[in-house]
Amino acid sequence: MTQNSPKRYHPLQVTLHWLVVILVFGAFVIGKSMSGQPNDAEKLTPLALHMGVGILTLLVIVVRFVVKVKLPKPEHVSAGNAAFDWIGKAVHYALYLLVFLMTVSGISLSIQAGLPSIVFGGSGNLPADFYDFAARMLHGFIAPALFLLVLLHVGAAFYHQLALKDNLLARMWYGKG
Ligand code: HEM
Repeated sequence: MTQNSPKRYHPLQVTLHWLVVILVFGAFVIGKSMSGQPNDAEKLTPLALHMGVGILTLLVIVVRFVVKVKLPKPEHVSAGNAAFDWIGKAVHYALYLLVFLMTVSGISLSIQAGLPSIVFGGSGNLPADFYDFAARMLHGFIAPALFLLVLLHVGAAFYHQLALKDNLLARMWYGKG
């Protein structure tokens, strides 16, 4: 470890990390629960919520990536073998990428389907089926991929915490140093 590298993530990075967790979880749960609903007037409120949370997620993930590049961060901790370490780094970048693609595919879908004016402007009706638009497939494919990646990420955090017992999670919380 170099002398200048901090022991934990910057409080701003910690805040943005947990904010992304809450936003992605929220968008995922609303998205899954409304996707089985018919496209009638009752769907407008969950759609508005989902789109609002999703757009906020895009803003936060972009700010977070810029902050990640700019701020000093703690050294990468080894999981004991080179393959795990490589996967660990790759998963972190892939998480940023998939969250970004999730939001961009959602925004593309909403533009293709004319949702901004229907959902937020109150004009017109929802299209009969979102699957008539190409971006709906993309949004639906990325969702389970992101879900699996999050499972891997959470699994790795538990592996560090419980098997390696290196208290890695503490770096993603507030504290001194
Ligand atoms: C990280 C951000 C997001 C997550 C995790 C997310 C998650 C989801 C999920 C899980 C579904 C259901 C997929 C399925 O069952 O196949 C869905 C559907 C949808 N999402 Fe998103 N989404 C996000 C961002 C957005 C954004 C930014 C928009 C638009 C501005 C959007 C618009 C939609 C629409 C229109 C549907 C279709 C609902 C339906 O088929 O009834 N999403 N989303």
